[in-house]
Amino acid sequence: MTYQPKTDLRVPFLVLAAEASKTAHPPVLREDTEATVPVNDEQRHARGFLFVLEGIDGAGKTAAAQLLEKELRARGLDVVRLREPTSESKWGKEIRDRSVKGELDPEEELNLFMRDRRWHVTNKILPYLREGKIVLLDRYFFASGAYQTTSTGIHWSEILRRNREEIHAPEPDIVFLLDVPVEVGLSRLGGRSGDVNLQFEKRGRLEKVRQAYLEMAEHDSANFVVIDARASLQEVVTQILDAILELVNRHRSARKAVD
Ligand code: TYD
Repeated sequence: MTYQPKTDLRVPFLVLAAEASKTAHPPVLREDTEATVPVNDEQRHARGFLFVLEGIDGAGKTAAAQLLEKELRARGLDVVRLREPTSESKWGKEIRDRSVKGELDPEEELNLFMRDRRWHVTNKILPYLREGKIVLLDRYFFASGAYQTTSTGIHWSEILRRNREEIHAPEPDIVFLLDVPVEVGLSRLGGRSGDVNLQFEKRGRLEKVRQAYLEMAEHDSANFVVIDARASLQEVVTQILDAILELVNRHRSARKAVD
């Protein structure tokens, strides 16, 4: 299993700047229509950025996202932090109410996550991207790939395909996978349950979730950067921040050159 990020963050800036002027920014803006329409240059230059944080429970995504939001804002960047499942749509509310009680069958749960996400993409993610904001998203369709593959048995690649094709979920600029061993994740959660069987079950499931995430980082087409999240929160945030700032500055200077 490799832990190397696909994006080589050590490429010298001048090389990146030269590449940026040649390479089109990925066609991430898609309308909520049947066809997937690549954006034209005008739209591409008007759009913001989508950065996603993923990882098993206890990996520290939420704390990292909060600190990142602060750091980006302190640098004058227009950032908005979102999370899934949402707490606003009726599907997000249903997930939060019924999933924790174990009331949902796995296929029903997958469908609810997709409905909630469709709502989120249409009402929040795309509008903010169109306004040119930096969207920091705490979990996205990769979480459905990693978690719902373990409950439904459907391969993660099929779950990702459905999210891309059926709900036209836009591709992130970077997916940061905060990777920690399951033991670390569980100990950060505080080992809330004293029930040994429950802990055992949870551990087994999270092992599978972690493996699915790592497979995705290696084989999926998204731009994954794997972060060793055993490090301190500050170190994790610094690595993510550097990657975000490098990408944002690279595209802003490429846009200026075009304007
Ligand atoms: P989590 O990020 O822990 O939310 P919070 O900290 O706000 O409670 O997410 C809640 C759970 O939902 C988590 O165990 C992962 C799960 N989940 C899925 O199973 N599939 C998905 O598509 C998403 C977005 C989350």
